[in-house]
Amino acid sequence: MYDEPLKVTGELRLAELLSAMSCALDLTEGQPIGHCIRCCWIGHHIGRELGLTDQALSDLYYMLLLKDLGCSSNAARICELYLTDDLTFKHDFKTWDGSLPAALRFVLSHTGLQSGLAERFRALVTVMVEGGEIAKELIETRCYRGADIARKLRFSEDVALGIRSLDEQWDGKGLPDRLAGEDIPNYSRIALLSQVIDVFHTASGPEAALSEAKKRAGSWFDPTMVEAFEAVSASSDFWQMLASPDLHDKIYLIEPAQIARRVDEDYLDEIAEAFAKVVDSKSPFTSGHSERVTVFTDLIAEQLGYSVTKRRWLKRAALLHDIGKLGVSNSVLDKPGKLDDEEFAQIKMHPVYSLNILKNITAFSDIAGIAGGHHERLDGKGYPYGLKGAEIDMDTRIVTVADIFDALTADRPYRKAMPISKALSIMWDMVDEAIDPVCFEALKVALDRIGEKIAA
Ligand SMILES: [Fe+2]
Ligand SMILES: [Fe+2]
Repeated sequence: MYDEPLKVTGELRLAELLSAMSCALDLTEGQPIGHCIRCCWIGHHIGRELGLTDQALSDLYYMLLLKDLGCSSNAARICELYLTDDLTFKHDFKTWDGSLPAALRFVLSHTGLQSGLAERFRALVTVMVEGGEIAKELIETRCYRGADIARKLRFSEDVALGIRSLDEQWDGKGLPDRLAGEDIPNYSRIALLSQVIDVFHTASGPEAALSEAKKRAGSWFDPTMVEAFEAVSASSDFWQMLASPDLHDKIYLIEPAQIARRVDEDYLDEIAEAFAKVVDSKSPFTSGHSERVTVFTDLIAEQLGYSVTKRRWLKRAALLHDIGKLGVSNSVLDKPGKLDDEEFAQIKMHPVYSLNILKNITAFSDIAGIAGGHHERLDGKGYPYGLKGAEIDMDTRIVTVADIFDALTADRPYRKAMPISKALSIMWDMVDEAIDPVCFEALKVALDRIGEKIAA
């Protein structure tokens, strides 16, 4: 029943998969899509110019693609402290030139755009009094978390430490450990330089990127690396490819072929789990959500007689169903009050982002539809597409039921968690209009069976 073979993924290259998934990380940094891929291109050329070995180039490659793995974890805190939109804040923070007047301008223009004067004033005082400490905390959270996820994804300690020291500066004024000079891991030095080059190149072109790199040589950047970049920048092919839409399709080819890593089914599960953690870290109210939805999804699928293979596939869909939330600001996701029309419109975009991210990743393209459809209702009143009845397949209906059940039984910004019996009674009223009766019944039976086991 409901069975299909699992897609063969044995020949999938890790580089291809992760370069596609890095676009989800761009969303959380408020960067134009392709930021991680472009950093990878820039850093790889600097590394080659510096004479790194193939093994080191491979590590550097993954470190650059995954440098923002921890970035969703400080988004909620940015909103809380600066009363502002985390995505715009992060984007503009990367173009800050490091001077005091610019810092003040930055704080004034980004702290609490949407809030009242009193709150804005209080937030400003917090930032001024505790600015250094706050920046340290935000960066620490991001770097430690990112390094941790990289380790879980089986990457070397060099890759993890490279991510952890991403914000250290050559002159010792960086964070979180104030490392200086050659104490900073090589990969981190290359990554910081590559990030700034990408941001300035995207905003103002090659000349601006080059002059920014030279201006900060010896302060932010290792002067040797800036020299290497100057040599790289003499090639017009380098700049042409950096600006080309083809870079997305080509980037995985620069990983040294003889050590190219492959992805098997187990690794694919781990990658889906890691990205689910990135999504769940974005907001205190979604903490653990994707993992729990995955458990409920699997309970329903088992109850419906899905095969083990199909259940494994569906679990990946549940893990990644909300990946598009990375593109929604925490000022909306964590809002305690009722959302206005504009805010609700932003929320409605998250399944669209999920669909777009996943459909471009070969290994996950067949679960993209489930992620895109998990907020649809059988009566056509769901979002974002207003699909109806038979237009919503069984797999999607299962994830929808699991998602609603977790939403009701977990804490939310606007209300506390509710008991299971109350959640089920609310969902009972949604049967046929919003949710599928068979899926709902399967969830109830599965929960009853667990309850009996606990009671026994
Ligand atoms: Fe959702
Ligand atoms: Fe969800």
